Amino acid sequence: MFKRILKDLKEIKTPYYIYDSRVIEKRAEILRDNFSDFADLFFAVKANTSISILKIIKGQDIGAEVVSPGEIFIALKSGIAPEKILYDSLARKEEEIEYAIDNRIEFFNFESLDQAVLLDNCAKNSKLKIKAFVRMNPGIFPKTHSHLSTGSSWSKFGIALRDLDKLYDIAKDFKSIELVGVHYHIGSQLLTPEPYFEALKKIESTVEFFIEKGLKIKYVNLGGGFGIPYKKEEKRFEPGNLKETYREISGKYGVRVFLELGRFLVAESGFIITKVLDVKDREGIPLYVVDSGMNDNPRPAIYDAYHHIEPLFEKSGDKIKSRVVGPICENSDEFGAYELPSLKIGDLLIIYNCGAYTRTMASNYNGRLLPAEYLYDGHELRQIRERQKLEGLITNEKL
Ligand SMILES: Cc1ncc(COP(=O)(O)O)c(C=O)c1O
Repeated sequence: MFKRILKDLKEIKTPYYIYDSRVIEKRAEILRDNFSDFADLFFAVKANTSISILKIIKGQDIGAEVVSPGEIFIALKSGIAPEKILYDSLARKEEEIEYAIDNRIEFFNFESLDQAVLLDNCAKNSKLKIKAFVRMNPGIFPKTHSHLSTGSSWSKFGIALRDLDKLYDIAKDFKSIELVGVHYHIGSQLLTPEPYFEALKKIESTVEFFIEKGLKIKYVNLGGGFGIPYKKEEKRFEPGNLKETYREISGKYGVRVFLELGRFLVAESGFIITKVLDVKDREGIPLYVVDSGMNDNPRPAIYDAYHHIEPLFEKSGDKIKSRVVGPICENSDEFGAYELPSLKIGDLLIIYNCGAYTRTMASNYNGRLLPAEYLYDGHELRQIRERQKLEGLITNEKL
């Protein structure tokens, strides 16, 4: 992927993130080919908030799904129009709603009855009508990491289906909310379509409930969650498996489908380049300490996630079981076990699938600086964000 620029990559101070814009464009094309005649696409900005990445997304005619004023700010700075922004949130403060309304954000969701009332009141105060989706909890536990399963009845997300009547009682008296749609997001990193089929039954019954009550539902937001192959034996989610079923929903109820995907669009476009700082032997297994860790990619520590790692420059020699760990003062700062050729101090490694939920989850833990970011488009390599400076660690401190 980076063959033509390997020499350049060697010169850059590690660790750093590098993205390949062609991957994002290819994934966007797959989504458009499958869904665009009956669906609108939104990018879950929480997956990657770099403005240069958002500009690529915008260029693919994809809107933004945001979850905070911060993400609204970044999406707008990227040039994404407010009419193409969908603001989801488990729970908001008044000031957050006001910020979104002041910025003319087009769509909102709500996930509780109290939050619906608050949203209605804020819209009324600003003398504007807003379009909202109700997020339901379908009570489904898809096969994914429990932290990523957002549709189970135990999870904090959405309104329980048993509360539909109570919801209608409130919704029929909305003053400033137009209830335009039903929203479900059952989880992330799903590799098979079955959980979506299961959720669809619940979605249909919810839509029918509102139609019977005389409410005009214009959209169904079927969430995100399409997974990618982190491990060799995994296969990228195949959107084509859902296409016809989603199209039928759209036709049957006369609604436009919304999809809000994060990982599928960007995860495979991003990489971390890191350098071996030390080599140890731990009970006969080589342990490589690299200069990037859970501060730059917390996914292994949080989700037990696997990120494939290889030497950036091909190395000869037998591959043996080895461990790769970061420099942070935590045992959980470990990428995992890999088959690697013998490495030495100074060797560069490439960590795969770091385009989603990686830089956005990074931290300054241990006083580590946030790495620089680079973008490659097949021709040009350019820096899109500088490495954080030491002063950045004390910004906002009152000295
Ligand atoms: C409400 C909502 N929509 C969409 C997404 C995007 O999920 P994914 O990146 O798995 O597509 C998320 C992620 O957690 C989410 O919470």
